[in-house]
Amino acid sequence: MSPTNVVILTGAGISAESGIPTFRGSDGLWEGHRVEDVASPEGFAANPTLVHQFYNLRRAALKAVEPNAAHQALARLQKTWGNRVTLVTQNVDDLHERAGSTEVLHMHGELLAALCAGCEHRFKSRTDLKQTMPCPACGAHGSLRPDIVWFGEMPYCMDDIHHALTQAKIFVSIGTSGNVYPAAGLVRMAALCGATTIEINLEPSVNTSEFDQRFIGPASVEVPRWVEQLVRGTADPLPQA
Ligand code: OAD
Repeated sequence: MSPTNVVILTGAGISAESGIPTFRGSDGLWEGHRVEDVASPEGFAANPTLVHQFYNLRRAALKAVEPNAAHQALARLQKTWGNRVTLVTQNVDDLHERAGSTEVLHMHGELLAALCAGCEHRFKSRTDLKQTMPCPACGAHGSLRPDIVWFGEMPYCMDDIHHALTQAKIFVSIGTSGNVYPAAGLVRMAALCGATTIEINLEPSVNTSEFDQRFIGPASVEVPRWVEQLVRGTADPLPQA
């Protein structure tokens, strides 16, 4: 197939086989915490030390995981089709980048970044964050927080995502449960813009009926298979990662 405009949305399921737990386990807890305690502005205000510790642990855990075949297949697709491919992720890990993706729209922020709640300066940070650290831009103490979009906050990159959807011929959603908006609403917007919509998931998402096609199975198998199908017929074979 000739290169065409594709918008890809990934969720926790694409990183599950790399060893990063998904959010919605059967016990309703996230790594032993209530989600609202560690993923909301109210939770941070109530106990900033706990929230910093929580994300410091998540950040450290990234060192023990590697991208899997699904991340690598998407990176190859991006390299082959260039800016025809828009990669949007809800994930805060860096596995897309480590697989070779260069343009990744992190709509829920990034573990390896920090945000100053005072001056809104955002910067890359691989180190542990602490309440006492000063903001490198405004110098304020006590205002740094993980650059994560918490519940009740506006996701990043929405203008870029909406623009890409208006151009999209294909929208594919990979490894996301469809519980969290606005990400879960992108399939409807893509359909309104005329795109074919595809879901790849271990099990059907809550909004699976909104997709034209679905591939049910592990991302490490289904994503490389879908990418190969997509580009079959192009002059150049996909380079290996
Ligand atoms: P969820 O934990 O809600 O859903 C994970 C999805 O991945 C489920 O639909 C699983 O079926 C699927 N899945 C699990 N293993 C898989 C595999 N090996 N291959 C393919 N699919 C697999 O995670 P998200 O939908 O990403 O937001 O959650 C959305 C948002 O909720 C997150 O970004 C986070 C959370 O609260 C914020 O932190 C703002």
